[in-house]
Amino acid sequence: MTRKKIIVANWKMNHGISDTLKFVSQLNRSVLPTEKIDVVICPPHTSLYTISVALDASEIRWGAQNCHFEDNGAFTGEVSPIFLRELGCGYVIIGHSERRKIFLENDDFIAKKVNKSIELDIIPLLCIGESQEQRDKNQTFEVVKKQLLDVLNSIIKLQPEQILIAYEPVWAIGTGKTATAEQAQEVHAFIRSVFTQKYGADFAQKIRILYGGSVHSKNVSELTSQADIDGALIGGASLEVESFREILYQVNS
Ligand code: PGA
Repeated sequence: MTRKKIIVANWKMNHGISDTLKFVSQLNRSVLPTEKIDVVICPPHTSLYTISVALDASEIRWGAQNCHFEDNGAFTGEVSPIFLRELGCGYVIIGHSERRKIFLENDDFIAKKVNKSIELDIIPLLCIGESQEQRDKNQTFEVVKKQLLDVLNSIIKLQPEQILIAYEPVWAIGTGKTATAEQAQEVHAFIRSVFTQKYGADFAQKIRILYGGSVHSKNVSELTSQADIDGALIGGASLEVESFREILYQVNS
């Protein structure tokens, strides 16, 4: 089973409208291997409309970094998934460790957001991963399985193309401390086995599981050539056009 590779840029709270436009115009001028790789850029909410227009005739996709699970209401500062759909948004990152840690999002809250995104045909990129302390205590599999099943068990009907999973060990995010290809592959294979147990082998073979945490142009190729690593979620190294473009070339090589 060959799964199309996917590279997702998570810009976090970086790049306002003018930097977004600059990035996209520079990226568009180059020839990117988008037939072989799905490329998704997730800018801050205020740049979403801009990117939707700038990428209109492009193969490059775009997504949001978060959304609420209600359509409307008294949720000051939140963004409705209905508004994202109105923009034509195709993807949304859900449950990133920064949201879990800084904004105290729990699995129940995350499950609601994943369900709502699926209902609206916005593909959620569900992030899961253990802390350094949990890894040191050999709890990686247990933690990742719980984060995954707390969400999957809440979904009534799921097709493999309706969701993406990102394995992001918290200790590797923004630290320059990448998981080795073996460490990442081991957890990815485990995540796929959780899907096999729940939905069967055919389903599990179609699920795309991305690795995230200090990915850059020098390590991306080794990581994404592992059997169960189908792409990468990239923060810091996705902010500069040159570096992001080099990552795409490396994945394609
Ligand atoms: P990083 O971030 O590539 O800067 O480690 C990854 C992420 O948080 O998604």
